[in-house]
Amino acid sequence: MTEESTELLRSLIYEPGTPPKLHVLNQLLLPGERVYIEISDVQAAWTAIRDMQIRGAPLIAIVAVLGLAVDLQTHTRELDQLDPNDAEALLALLETKLDFLMTSRPTAVNLFNAVQELRDVCHRMVMIDDDEDDTNTTTARQRLLQAVTQHAEFMLERDVQDNKTLSQYGAHELLSKHSSSDEKLTLMTICNTGSLATALYGTALGIVRAVRDQQRLAAIIALETRPYNQGSRLTAFELQAEQMPGATLIADSMAAFYCQRHKVHGIVVGADRVCANGDTANKIGTYQLALVARAHNIPFYVAAPFTTLDVTTAAGQECVIEERPAHEFVQTSQAPADMNVWNPAFDITPAQYITGIVTEKGVLHPNADGTFDVRRFVESKG
Ligand code: MRU
Repeated sequence: MTEESTELLRSLIYEPGTPPKLHVLNQLLLPGERVYIEISDVQAAWTAIRDMQIRGAPLIAIVAVLGLAVDLQTHTRELDQLDPNDAEALLALLETKLDFLMTSRPTAVNLFNAVQELRDVCHRMVMIDDDEDDTNTTTARQRLLQAVTQHAEFMLERDVQDNKTLSQYGAHELLSKHSSSDEKLTLMTICNTGSLATALYGTALGIVRAVRDQQRLAAIIALETRPYNQGSRLTAFELQAEQMPGATLIADSMAAFYCQRHKVHGIVVGADRVCANGDTANKIGTYQLALVARAHNIPFYVAAPFTTLDVTTAAGQECVIEERPAHEFVQTSQAPADMNVWNPAFDITPAQYITGIVTEKGVLHPNADGTFDVRRFVESKG
């Protein structure tokens, strides 16, 4: 990414300090307007996530944890009411805020994993036994604030690094199937998995960037992504900002015909949750696209950070699929106002349609029966 496109596609601006400051780009206004809104407490973080001012599995998790760090340091009244050495009361307050954040959106596992990770770090840091450590002169309150802030900032940095690493793996995987160095690839994607869906760079769209950086991208075909148009509003904006070669927008209903008429070398999509058997929850329309890929013998890759792998969910039918309010569909489809609609935000792509799962720790390939051993991968790499 250039300096200019990095600025244009910055999903959030975080300024460390006491208190830290967080602003997020209101994606509902893109591509027409670029407006950053301030997140100064968990309520504002929850609303930005719930209303999809920010969206994308990794970004949801990051805004939640950074929002919490800002909240605790900006609105100190709740903390002031507690004894600064009452570790249990401080951790109870933390739990209340984490529980609230987890009610924002149900499908992306990254939020729940980030909450669990932060919870574990805070418990470890806050519960340090003063008797065991004579040099420890900090209060439990100071340790809590430090743990939340430092770990949230670490998660922010880690996301950018992980996206870049997984994108290199993904590009290598795709390009190794087409080793002639003058062959350029046409790739297809759905939804927005780029800089706007993450702290920077992106996952599936990050792979497209990495292929482009090796001068091997012929074209990137972006699906509009009905009903909320993350493809036409957000991915198209990213592709234009980067002047991506062959960037082309198609309606979702055109994907099969496009693949019949043109050579497509690979389809890359993101994920909101990868189950233990490889079944993958992602933006509604992904399953359909996987069927198109299979019908046309096109490799179909899921790209996601390690934190999207969920070995506690055995298979796709166990995933909670969020249903968005009817009006979001009715308005964007110009249907009559009182039309009855069904509006799931995600679907499940069965593992058997997935060629590989690309993470920052490597690419996972399926077993002979088409399922993935995600648990073994997590245990070996975790
Ligand atoms: O409803 P959204 O826009 O949050 O859905 C986003 C997706 O489905 C993405 O593909 C997924 O979160 C991965 S983003 C890197």
